[in-house]
Amino acid sequence: MKSTTWALLASSLIASTNGLNLQKRSDGPARVISMSTERRKIDNPAQRDRLRRRTGAVSASLDNEETLYFVNATIGTPAQSLRLHLDTGSSDLWVNTPSSTLCKGTSQSCAFAGTYTANSSSTYEYVGSWFNISYVDGSGASGDYVTDTFTIGTGNSSTTLDSLQFGIGYTSSSSQGILGIGYTVNEVQVGRAGKSAYNNLPAQMVADGVIQSNAYSLWLNDLDASTGSILFGGVDSDRYTGTLETLPVQKQAGVYSEFLITLTEIKLGDTTLASDMALAVLLDSGSSLTYLPDDIVQTIYDTVGATYDSSEGVAYVPCSLAETTNSSIIYTFSTPVINVTASELVLDLVTSSGKRPTFRNGQTACLFGIAPAGSGTNVLGDTFLRSAYVVYDLANNEISLAQTKFNVSTSNVQEISTGTTSVPGAATIANAVAATSGLTVISSSSNDAESAAPPLLVGGIAAAAALVSSTVIGLGLILV
Ligand SMILES: *[C@@H]1O[C@H](CO)[C@@H](O)[C@H](O)[C@H]1NC(C)=O
Ligand SMILES: *[C@@H]1O[C@H](CO)[C@@H](O)[C@H](O)[C@H]1NC(C)=O
Ligand SMILES: *[C@@H]1O[C@H](CO)[C@@H](O)[C@H](O)[C@H]1NC(C)=O
Ligand SMILES: *[C@@H]1O[C@H](CO)[C@@H](O)[C@H](O)[C@H]1NC(C)=O
Ligand SMILES: *[C@@H]1O[C@H](CO)[C@@H](O)[C@H](O)[C@H]1NC(C)=O
Ligand SMILES: *[C@@H]1O[C@H](CO)[C@@H](O)[C@H](O)[C@H]1NC(C)=O
Ligand SMILES: *[C@@H]1O[C@H](CO)[C@@H](O)[C@H](O)[C@H]1NC(C)=O
Repeated sequence: MKSTTWALLASSLIASTNGLNLQKRSDGPARVISMSTERRKIDNPAQRDRLRRRTGAVSASLDNEETLYFVNATIGTPAQSLRLHLDTGSSDLWVNTPSSTLCKGTSQSCAFAGTYTANSSSTYEYVGSWFNISYVDGSGASGDYVTDTFTIGTGNSSTTLDSLQFGIGYTSSSSQGILGIGYTVNEVQVGRAGKSAYNNLPAQMVADGVIQSNAYSLWLNDLDASTGSILFGGVDSDRYTGTLETLPVQKQAGVYSEFLITLTEIKLGDTTLASDMALAVLLDSGSSLTYLPDDIVQTIYDTVGATYDSSEGVAYVPCSLAETTNSSIIYTFSTPVINVTASELVLDLVTSSGKRPTFRNGQTACLFGIAPAGSGTNVLGDTFLRSAYVVYDLANNEISLAQTKFNVSTSNVQEISTGTTSVPGAATIANAVAATSGLTVISSSSNDAESAAPPLLVGGIAAAAALVSSTVIGLGLILV
């Protein structure tokens, strides 16, 4: 069971008008403002910095607001502070500006993540007015592409780029800026404006020689931990168990555009739910939940006793499920296996009054970390990613995976060099299965850059109607 409060979700549950909006990246931070999160001290930053310098890898700490992962950054001269939502599922960095209708509003919705004022920066340069990003849920931002100085991290663990291109949301319906670190071909400048790709953050780090290769490692840590870390250009061998195993990224319509890998088997405890699969799944740190095929999700819900709410597209479980030891979800990707324990799948819900919602029988209700994908992309979001150590090697179009180690305070950072097989300690698997399902037909590079982002709730709901019928009629959830 989790002790972190989740006022954000609770309040939207109470309002219950637009759904939980879990996939709606745009609205997270505003609702996160009042949320109290337990913060864990960042483990031994001094040691990590020393290691970072020696190896030339760039590390930054992440805030875990339970639903979203943020990284601190500053932009411009003098520096303007922002908290950016780290997103492996998109490729543009963009920020809000105080003059937008959204940020000028009385709700102070942009206060948590911060804003950027171009005219207050002496190093700002205008690029063009074709910035326009939209998410599957209809939210988005549009305005200018510009360049300015960019610093990630703070103090002496920070790294500065003299010039980085990003978007400014002069019109915005998303209260936090997003730091998309995916493939540059997926930038909206490419997909929407038909222009060539620019260097986004990881690519610019390579161009500036800050890191050697366009690759980074993401360690989100335990659900109960308040911080994780991202390591650009490096791997920390203290933060995983076993061997890092390397898989090919799956192309979509002939292009490497997103972090799709092939899922071949899924088990619940000792029971195999599906095997011999060749299903493309998207690794997306910008997604809080995991979205899997409806039939598999139905079986999981039936077995763990989850109560599905079709209007929200999510399920609730007794919080005590977190303590069970036989309800792990075991994912296999040709060879590597990631074990996600029940304690990482049960997300706490606390209302602003500090009380927990209960089922009618009095059991405390928690949110379950897996939801039906419906007709949308299958997504391995944070309820999968926290249990895995993942190296995103864009230079070689490969993903390396290992079971994570939680709450590690030591570091053993090694630099990722150039060339193939450049990820230290990683072994390429033999006979990797190519995905034959779960790939969309339309290339995201020729369409909306966000077309493969987490599915619309609507998609989930449509498929979900059938799902509910067998076990759940009426939610039976009492909100306090
Ligand atoms: C930052 O630098 C100061 C002074 O050089 C040093 O005392 C401190 O330990 C450093 N902090 C970290 C996190 O490395
Ligand atoms: C980011 O900055 C905020 C505000 O200064 C601070 O509270 C938070 O701990 C910082 N997060 C990280 C990961 O350094
Ligand atoms: C920045 O300043 C210039 C010159 O004063 C002005 O034309 C422009 O509209 C300003 N831009 C913004 C975004 O306020
Ligand atoms: C951005 O794109 C959306 C969707 O295609 C469109 O409706 C909107 O008008 C565009 N905004 C601007 C400012 O071009
Ligand atoms: C990790 O640390 C957090 C916060 O201290 C704690 O709640 C959690 O149980 C720890 N996780 C493990 C797996 O030890
Ligand atoms: C776990 O064990 C309990 C008690 O034996 C049982 O009721 C439950 O169905 C099991 N769960 C799974 C996923 O096998
Ligand atoms: C998954 O992890 C749990 C907790 O560590 C353990 O009990 C279980 O045996 C593991 N399952 C597999 C298949 O490794």
